[in-house]
Amino acid sequence: MRIGILGSGLMGGKLGTLFARAGHEVVFSYARSERKLKRLAREAQGNAKAGTPGEAAREADALLLAVHWSRVDDVLKQAGDVSGKVIVSCSLPMNADDTNLVIAHTSSGAESLAKKVRRAHVVSAFGTVPSEVLFGVFAAKRKASRPSLVYCGDDAAAKQLTAGLIRDVGFDPVDVGPLRIARYTEPFTLLIARLAYEGEGGPELAYRFERFD
Ligand SMILES: NC(=O)c1ccc[n+]([C@@H]2O[C@H](COP(=O)([O-])OP(=O)(O)OC[C@H]3O[C@@H](n4cnc5c(N)ncnc54)[C@H](OP(=O)(O)O)[C@@H]3O)[C@@H](O)[C@H]2O)c1
Repeated sequence: MRIGILGSGLMGGKLGTLFARAGHEVVFSYARSERKLKRLAREAQGNAKAGTPGEAAREADALLLAVHWSRVDDVLKQAGDVSGKVIVSCSLPMNADDTNLVIAHTSSGAESLAKKVRRAHVVSAFGTVPSEVLFGVFAAKRKASRPSLVYCGDDAAAKQLTAGLIRDVGFDPVDVGPLRIARYTEPFTLLIARLAYEGEGGPELAYRFERFD
């Protein structure tokens, strides 16, 4: 698949790298320096290049939206027409100093995003784990028990595509339902962030659901 990365920071840089290593064609876009985008493309060791958000979006089968909430409008404007595209978003609706959600309970960042891009198919995924764990999960891909990763969305085909990407990174995709369930997954991320960044064990943290039938 062709995957455009909108926001090549901690999340976008790492996920784009892993998508390329899993065999996808990746375009890294939206950083403050083009040199950084080129370095990411080089170091991804796969089929990856640097581009503008417009180039990343143009022929993409899927776009990963990985920017701070305050940059969403800007990057979408630069991306141009995203009609019919799958937009996988890990972006959380955080305030400027990243201490609180600015949308919650009655809506979610993912639903608010879907309203901005009504003709695209938004899936909320990857936002519930810290970037620091992504390479470790990928490296452990062949192990029998993979960590879970929740995702939600309203379009079945977009969700299926996203589940494939989640598997490619090394997680076990857990479909938690329609996009409005992001009202629960987004605050859940603050719990994960607390354990990752304020707990004892460090940020290389993922989670796994288990059933006991
Ligand atoms: N980090 C995590 O562990 C984590 C986990 C879950 C969810 N999230 C969510 O995922 C999203 C991305 O987080 P992140 O930590 O990956 O953020 P980040 O590292 O700050 O990455 C954001 C990207 O946007 C670029 N950018 C910012 N302002 C720009 C501008 N004016 N022009 C061009 N590019 C600009 C940054 O450029 P530079 O590369 O030049 O800085 C960077 O590449 C956020 O919504 C966050 O809440 C993050």
